[in-house]
Amino acid sequence: MDRIEKVVMATAVLLLLVFFGAIMIAATSYGIDLPTCVTDRAPFTEGKAPFKTADQPLRYEAHTVARMWMFDPPEITVPPGAELDLYLSSADVVHGYYVEGTNINLMAVPGAVTYQRVKFDREGTYRVLCHEYCGTAHHLMAGTIVVTSQPEEEQ
Ligand code: CUA
Repeated sequence: MDRIEKVVMATAVLLLLVFFGAIMIAATSYGIDLPTCVTDRAPFTEGKAPFKTADQPLRYEAHTVARMWMFDPPEITVPPGAELDLYLSSADVVHGYYVEGTNINLMAVPGAVTYQRVKFDREGTYRVLCHEYCGTAHHLMAGTIVVTSQPEEEQ
């Protein structure tokens, strides 16, 4: 082996050790960690039911995560007349969020949150469909928004 090759290999190994050491020091001494996804943090990880906004009795917030091939939560229940603040993100690829019979048409984009406020005046069950091709089970990706005056525990 040529002397220059030995020097280059020794330098490469030395640099590997320096970088590995820097990563270990960053992880242990400075608490630097891998970045997390928006869907791994609150409020997307909290509560599956839409919750009321404190000062508005008929305003609800729902935080939905789209992932192959479901919406989480799969069902959202609100009373008639409720204003629903829909926050949507994706855990993997781009999905769609189309609510049949309404003008709700959002994109679920990884790393981003999309938002729409909607008001449901009529009772009924609204199907939610993914409208972006997202893989082999795309056609099965669906959810529901139920607008009912009956509290959830009476259904
Ligand atoms: Cu999700 Cu198509």
